[in-house]
Amino acid sequence: MSLQTISSISCTAIPKNRDKIGFSSYKGEMLVADSLDVLATLADNSIDLVITSPPFALQRKKEYGNKEQCEYVEWLSQFGHLVFRKLKETGSFVLDLGGAYQKGFPVRSLYNFRVPLKFCDELGFFLAEEFFWYNPSKLPSPIEWVNKRKIRVKDAVNTVWWFSKTQWPKVNIKNVLIPYSDRMKKLLENPNKYYRPKDRPSGHSISETFSNDNGGAIPSNLLQISNSESNSLYLRRCKLLNIKGHPARFPEKLPEFFIKMLTDEDDLVVDIFGGSNTTGFVAEKCNRKWLTIEQAIEYVASAVLRFLPEDFSEEKITKIYERIMSNDYIDLYSENYQKDLFEIIEKEKTAHNETVEKVNSGVSRLF
Ligand SMILES: C[S@@+](CC[C@H](N)C(=O)[O-])C[C@H]1O[C@@H](n2cnc3c(N)ncnc32)[C@H](O)[C@@H]1O
Repeated sequence: MSLQTISSISCTAIPKNRDKIGFSSYKGEMLVADSLDVLATLADNSIDLVITSPPFALQRKKEYGNKEQCEYVEWLSQFGHLVFRKLKETGSFVLDLGGAYQKGFPVRSLYNFRVPLKFCDELGFFLAEEFFWYNPSKLPSPIEWVNKRKIRVKDAVNTVWWFSKTQWPKVNIKNVLIPYSDRMKKLLENPNKYYRPKDRPSGHSISETFSNDNGGAIPSNLLQISNSESNSLYLRRCKLLNIKGHPARFPEKLPEFFIKMLTDEDDLVVDIFGGSNTTGFVAEKCNRKWLTIEQAIEYVASAVLRFLPEDFSEEKITKIYERIMSNDYIDLYSENYQKDLFEIIEKEKTAHNETVEKVNSGVSRLF
């Protein structure tokens, strides 16, 4: 990729404010700031996707702080209100929200249901679809109700609300098809042996097109993604520098699913509660522009560790981390720290093009 191509990818939605930039890369920037302040400065109708995981209204306090349940909906709505204005008409807001118990009682808070009601009834969003992120490796909690008294089961699902600005957000399911089941593969190999078109008792008519190979199956809204990474580059480097990794990171597959489904290359993806910047890192690999905002400088300084080349020495890594901690802004691309990136983007692109080709040939056979 030539320098000319790179300089042409400037992001007009983002006003340059070097004071706030922790680091920038080929495709994006991570800012050390309050996202309410930053959102207010962005151009209206400029963002394709906001995907984020805010601090939840949990009883157990997190090290990065979380709001009380009674004030939570109002607090989050301030962000929702601004996000609505900044999204393009085709834009989406994907919000990961976990459930919580009421203080002192084994009954659930309704805060995570009040959020979508408020967002749709008052802020103008539409609920495009709700997803359920099932994390089999989630630890049992709260300990009192689940482990000690054994009166509640393990809560292993977060709701991921997909809001849209209009009824017709940009979406491309072809980008997130999943492998066919073994049964479906057999059917595709030899449709006549396994399948005869007929009406189902439900009245659904299953036609012959059912046996077309569309390159993969349509995923459901139950996303099974484990969040159990223990040996990632990010964690290994945190350990090397003797710093704690962010305690509530997304698994990469979660933002990846929505980024691929809801945006095209070079679209702008924003995370307003950035943490360790899983979103920006995935967006970069998928060749999308990105902007991540995180208020704690130590999380921004450790997030940069994701982006540095595999062969970087401990000395170099430490230096870059310390520069961000002392408010020095780092431009990873200009300082030539992203040499691996183009290979990764090219690999992603080839895999994507192969899938699309397969899907398109399947779809064209339908008509
Ligand atoms: C649940 S974590 C996000 C983790 C992230 N998804 C990841 O993969 O690492 C929420 C983050 O929001 C940050 N935060 C809370 N309020 C904020 C605000 N007003 N502006 C920017 N960041 C904020 C917290 O410091 C915390 O790191």
